[in-house]
Amino acid sequence: MIAGVGHYVPERIVNNFDLEKMMDTSDEWIRERTGIVERRWIEDGKNNVDLACQASLKAIENAGLEIQDIDFIIFATISTDYFFPGTGCFLQEKLGVPGIGALDIRNQCSGFVYGLSTADQFIKSGMYKNILLVGSEVQSRGLDFTTRGRDVAVIFGDGAGAAVISRSENDKKGILATCLHADGRHAKELWQELPGSARKPMMTHAIIDEPGIYPYMNGRYVFKHAVTRFPEVIQESFQAAGLDKNEVDLVIPHQANLRITEAVRMKLGLPEEKVFSNIHKYGNTTAASIPIAMSEAIEEGRIKEGSLVCLASFGSGFTWASALVRF
Ligand code: ACO
Repeated sequence: MIAGVGHYVPERIVNNFDLEKMMDTSDEWIRERTGIVERRWIEDGKNNVDLACQASLKAIENAGLEIQDIDFIIFATISTDYFFPGTGCFLQEKLGVPGIGALDIRNQCSGFVYGLSTADQFIKSGMYKNILLVGSEVQSRGLDFTTRGRDVAVIFGDGAGAAVISRSENDKKGILATCLHADGRHAKELWQELPGSARKPMMTHAIIDEPGIYPYMNGRYVFKHAVTRFPEVIQESFQAAGLDKNEVDLVIPHQANLRITEAVRMKLGLPEEKVFSNIHKYGNTTAASIPIAMSEAIEEGRIKEGSLVCLASFGSGFTWASALVRF
């Protein structure tokens, strides 16, 4: 079960008008196409692990546990602090729990749901008791903030969300189903090519001038696939759990874009209050968006004891996934 959830976002707010000063864009274009009004950017001197740590401490406290109760860490991010090792090891060090396992996963926007499914299997097999699952991103240091990169740069933001996954004594409660998918045929429609070992040598002076050091997104292509895969994978989780989608209290889709969320909601025929959105405040925070949204939904009283919640994601890979959870 999800025993506790927490989130942390940097204090620095960057609105669409701030971006207008850096590139040829407009508040109107960004709002209309994405629903984003502002996003958070990390302060100088702070790193991904600092955001992750704040979110983790809240999740552990909300679970009513001590840091020492955590026996495994799963860390989902595409914006690791260092090329290697993964940020999970740095988080483990910062939390002060040496020795416990730390697994880093790279499943982009689906990272948190993939991590939740992995944690669930470890818990159900009896291998671990309390797993800390984190989605944390620092996008603001890796985007092209010139007009060349505007289609991607305006969308993404920084932030972290975390959850503690524990064993449930009540079999009606907890993670009822998870569904994971990928289709690598579309990998290059949303990706960052460089740096990578496919290039020999991996690093040269010249690559700094190549567009491949920034994320590339075929926006319309991504949009088309997202609005098909989201409803599909949400339905799949209900079927797997033997429940009907109309029983859901809240769907939390990965916050990719307000237009995607709206299209998914319409396809599923769900009322506005059953589909969570906070993209106007944070933009798209990749692996962090679902746990941040889940944490806010709990704080706002939209998830309570007994609520049936569906988490769903779609992103680079392409990867898509869902989880049906009874709180
Ligand atoms: N500001 C102003 N103009 C822009 C910007 C910008 N930030 N970015 C692109 N434009 C311009 C383009 O250059 C183009 O100009 P042109 O007509 O002179 O050539 C015009 O706006 C329209 O560009 P399109 O790419 O056709 O715009 P579209 O309506 O498709 O919207 C968007 C682009 C928002 C990216 C859209 O395709 C979309 O929503 N895609 C889904 C992708 C997404 O949301 N990804 C999120 C990350 S991935 C994930 O999490 C799943």
